[in-house]
Amino acid sequence: MSFTVAIDGPAAAGKGTISRAVAEHFGFAHLDTGLLYRAVGARMLTGKEPVEAAQALTADDLGDPDALRTPDVAQAASRVAVIPEVRAALVDFQRAFARRAGGAVLDGRDIGTVICPDAEAKLFVTASAEVRASRRHKELLERGIASDYDTVLADVRERDARDANRATAPLLPAADAVILDTSDLSIEEAVAKAIREIAAHRD
Ligand code: DC
Repeated sequence: MSFTVAIDGPAAAGKGTISRAVAEHFGFAHLDTGLLYRAVGARMLTGKEPVEAAQALTADDLGDPDALRTPDVAQAASRVAVIPEVRAALVDFQRAFARRAGGAVLDGRDIGTVICPDAEAKLFVTASAEVRASRRHKELLERGIASDYDTVLADVRERDARDANRATAPLLPAADAVILDTSDLSIEEAVAKAIREIAAHRD
């Protein structure tokens, strides 16, 4: 039996933390789809053609997520993500993952709208740009990466604008998604709310 949870939202809204906790709670597999675009973006930064890089991508390329979670790679990911052929090349991998037996959580920007429009549960996780920037800033410092809050805020706004305004699969909540604004929630509260929403779709 497959059960797909689609979790979408802008950068640093808490999707990753919520998705991992939800997957663990329900015993589902988890795919951070941003890593696919980051892996393609990282290859573009080394001079590869993005569409070819996307077509050649395999699960092994996602093996070292920390190397892909840098600000430069995030910007490159957002740039390759506007290319329709790049998005098309990544669809089958994501849909196959979503259908795996035992349930799956996919987080990204277009999971509930394009990749898995029939997902059993859909959440759109969001927070104000300022809250998201301060979380990302803290996370970078904790990982020993130099960071400046104003630069992070500008970066978040730039990626939001590019992700929301692109012609193909723009960032937007599915009509049947439950909106979860985490601006004023602790991680524990946000996770608990997400689990309650998803549990309600399981019966
Ligand atoms: O979630 P993230 O920050 O790792 O995503 C990096 C970029 O990849 C993001 O700016 C837009 C793109 N992306 C996308 O277009 N569609 C997805 N499903 C996931 C990410």
